[in-house]
Amino acid sequence: MQLVILILSVLHGSLAASALVSTGPADSRLDIEKTVLIDSEVSLYPDLAFEDVHLQDIASRRKCRVFPGDPDWPSSASWNQLKALVGDNLVMPDPIGKVCYTGREFDANACATVEQQWSNSTLHADHPSSVMSPLYQGLTCLPFDGPNRTCTLGGYPVFVINAQNARDVQAAVNFARNKNIRLVIKNTGHDFSGKSSGSGSLSIRTHQLKGILFFSQLEKDGYRGPAFRIGSGVQAFELYAAARDQHVVVIGGEGVTVGWGGGYITGGGHSPLSSIHGMAADHVLSFEVVTADGRLVTADSTQNADLFWALRGGGGSTFGVLVSITVKAFPDLPIVTVSSFTFTSSPRDISKYPADTSNNDFWAVIRSYFENFALLADQGMYSYFNIFATAIPGQQLFSMAPFFAPNKTVEEVNSLLKPMFDTASALNVTLIPNTTAYNGFYDAWLAGFPQERIGTWAGQPASRLFPRDNWLNSTLFNATFDVIRTKVAANDSGLIAFNIAPTLAAGGNPNNAVNPAWRKTVMHAISTIAWDQGLRNFSQIRALQHDLTSVRMKPWRDISPGAGSYLNEADINEPNFQQSFWGSHYPRLYKIKQNVDPVGVFFAETAVGSEDWTTGVTRLERLCPL
Ligand SMILES: Cc1cc2nc3c(=O)[nH]c(=O)nc-3n(C[C@H](O)[C@H](O)[C@H](O)COP(=O)(O)OP(=O)(O)OC[C@H]3O[C@@H](n4cnc5c(N)ncnc54)[C@H](O)[C@@H]3O)c2cc1C
Ligand SMILES: *[C@@H]1O[C@H](CO)[C@@H](O)[C@H](O)[C@H]1NC(C)=O
Ligand SMILES: *[C@@H]1O[C@H](CO)[C@@H](O)[C@H](O)[C@H]1NC(C)=O
Ligand SMILES: *[C@@H]1O[C@H](CO)[C@@H](O)[C@H](O)[C@H]1NC(C)=O
Ligand SMILES: *[C@@H]1O[C@H](CO)[C@@H](O)[C@H](O)[C@H]1NC(C)=O
Ligand SMILES: *[C@@H]1O[C@H](CO)[C@@H](O)[C@H](O)[C@H]1NC(C)=O
Ligand SMILES: *[C@@H]1O[C@H](CO)[C@@H](O)[C@H](O)[C@H]1NC(C)=O
Ligand SMILES: *[C@@H]1O[C@H](CO)[C@@H](O)[C@H](O)[C@H]1NC(C)=O
Ligand SMILES: *[C@@H]1O[C@H](CO)[C@@H](O)[C@H](O)[C@H]1NC(C)=O
Ligand SMILES: *[C@@H]1O[C@H](CO)[C@@H](O)[C@H](O)[C@H]1NC(C)=O
Repeated sequence: MQLVILILSVLHGSLAASALVSTGPADSRLDIEKTVLIDSEVSLYPDLAFEDVHLQDIASRRKCRVFPGDPDWPSSASWNQLKALVGDNLVMPDPIGKVCYTGREFDANACATVEQQWSNSTLHADHPSSVMSPLYQGLTCLPFDGPNRTCTLGGYPVFVINAQNARDVQAAVNFARNKNIRLVIKNTGHDFSGKSSGSGSLSIRTHQLKGILFFSQLEKDGYRGPAFRIGSGVQAFELYAAARDQHVVVIGGEGVTVGWGGGYITGGGHSPLSSIHGMAADHVLSFEVVTADGRLVTADSTQNADLFWALRGGGGSTFGVLVSITVKAFPDLPIVTVSSFTFTSSPRDISKYPADTSNNDFWAVIRSYFENFALLADQGMYSYFNIFATAIPGQQLFSMAPFFAPNKTVEEVNSLLKPMFDTASALNVTLIPNTTAYNGFYDAWLAGFPQERIGTWAGQPASRLFPRDNWLNSTLFNATFDVIRTKVAANDSGLIAFNIAPTLAAGGNPNNAVNPAWRKTVMHAISTIAWDQGLRNFSQIRALQHDLTSVRMKPWRDISPGAGSYLNEADINEPNFQQSFWGSHYPRLYKIKQNVDPVGVFFAETAVGSEDWTTGVTRLERLCPL
């Protein structure tokens, strides 16, 4: 989903199809997993040694992480031990905007590219430390602020390991743990809460952990069918191309360049196929993961079963570093129909309400769509839509972008959307759908979800998983609809939402850590706040963030008590985030965290166990236990 309200402008990049796929017997491993760290390699280097985390003295080891400039920050001799092991994969990257600042690195051409490509996710995914929500790095070194201000490192990592294999990951985990350095993990950098970076840290970059293996018949845990083994650096577009070539589908997100095997899969992962197949994490058969002790282990139904449970929905950057994931695939769908349309308030609305945003006709059309959310989701539908104010005073715009209909023909889609279309025509609201059927998931996904613009620094999202119950009772439905409508009418930044129902039944009744609120959801709604792009005063920014959390989002929470929020598209300041992101699963997740990572090698804001740590009001200070 895109945070900025730039819905109608999309990037038109060319996507190279994955040429990484190979096939093999069920016990085949990816190249990235074949190179592992062995004890004899580190026997002479105490800084790189493995350590049994269960034997650690937790009280003395759970302490503030060292920061550059501290006496305990590793010496260059120490960094050189790491360098000896991982070679040139260890780098000290400048912030991506540094080329725009006066100084030795200034480069006008490179700067022009960074500025021009800023909203292109590939720019940031290809950079060792850049992330797509730079607010949480302290807005440091934005290219647009050059050349006369100072470019500081801010919340970006000091060192990055561009991991090429499990061994590089293991070396990083051992080094960070032994030297008491903050460790972060960056895959693509899509995270909306800045969880893939952190001040004073060593970052493991997983983006290059590519590789895809296809198994036409994998047998595991009672499953027998097609499956993939996927490197954690593989992105959605690469995986989808590989699946298309094998005439199957994998449950993945809508976002083209989002990583499949990092924050997405560990966060649960919603998908255009979720109303049929549940969450992406529901179909994982096993993980290869580097744990806090530096070992590469398998987590599946029989080995490290608690970890296996937690990694499917418990969130990234918490329990270990994923290296690969083995996941079920499903037969491709013979037909997938995609429908896109927009409509604005009718002329009658605008003449009736020139000064406000009541737009009753417009909302009547939306209501006839909303009323059918439970029914549409039960038919396997997924839709992605936005509502926001236009530049014309009093006018609002609805954009269906798109209505995604797996296994449905154009005629079937027209019949599913008939109540909405009929209401529009009765009220003279002009609505001209573009509805096209495709042979298979890939082409429909490609047409329906162009690469989104990212890179907002002047705003942030918040989300709510609205339960089906709010649709079943007509009093409650009316109140829910009013709450949504009021928020958009207040013209605060509109609504970005999904009609989606990843029920337990759709997911095959898995037992995993996915937020139980997802199982009841029929609408995943995102609200954003946006402020002046020139604002750099953090006490003002924090006041705006507080307004989003405590004022603007409150009616959404109040109308859905006990429901939740999607941790991957959430408010970084979500109140009671443990309940919101994980509901009744939280106590077990917290216990598993204490068991697999007792001293807190892994930390990210709002991750499981993060309440025991602080990075200060600025979120840029050293990481310390509370
Ligand atoms: C344009 C856009 C579209 C999106 N579309 C969808 C969608 O359709 N469905 C959906 O569910 N979500 C979607 N999201 C949200 C997305 O799931 C999150 O942004 C997610 O965190 C991205 O994961 P990443 O690994 O690519 O990103 P990163 O920012 O690199 O990482 C995210 C988090 O995971 C951790 N992490 C990364 N790799 C690993 C690893 N190998 N092991 C352990 N931890 C790791 C990081 O430390 C960080 O905490 C979208 C986001 C954007 C910006
Ligand atoms: C995004 O960046 C990639 C990599 O540089 C490039 O191939 C692609 O064309 C860019 N997309 C746009 C719309 O500029
Ligand atoms: C930066 O400083 C130079 C030299 O003082 C000045 O000419 C230029 O206008 C300044 N640029 C900006 C954007 O302030
Ligand atoms: C609503 O907000 C948009 C974007 O900020 C602005 O362009 C528009 O003028 C506003 N409309 C009203 C009626 O306030
Ligand atoms: C697709 O539709 C057909 C017939 O309508 C049905 O038999 C099949 O189970 C559906 N497939 C999925 C994945 O829902
Ligand atoms: C819709 O438009 C037609 C023709 O312009 C007009 O006759 C009719 O009264 C309008 N209906 C409403 C509800 O405004
Ligand atoms: C309809 O949508 C498809 C993509 O789904 C696009 O290629 C086509 O140009 C669109 N047609 C119109 C008339 O907008
Ligand atoms: C809900 O709202 C609709 C449309 O405004 C109205 O007809 C209906 O009576 C309301 N239902 C209840 C229970 O208030
Ligand atoms: C419907 O919801 C309203 C408002 O939450 C509640 O007061 C009422 O008891 C509910 N009715 C039923 C039948 O559940
Ligand atoms: C930032 O904003 C606060 C609150 O409005 C104000 O008191 C403070 O002076 C501002 N700081 C700077 C550096 O402008």
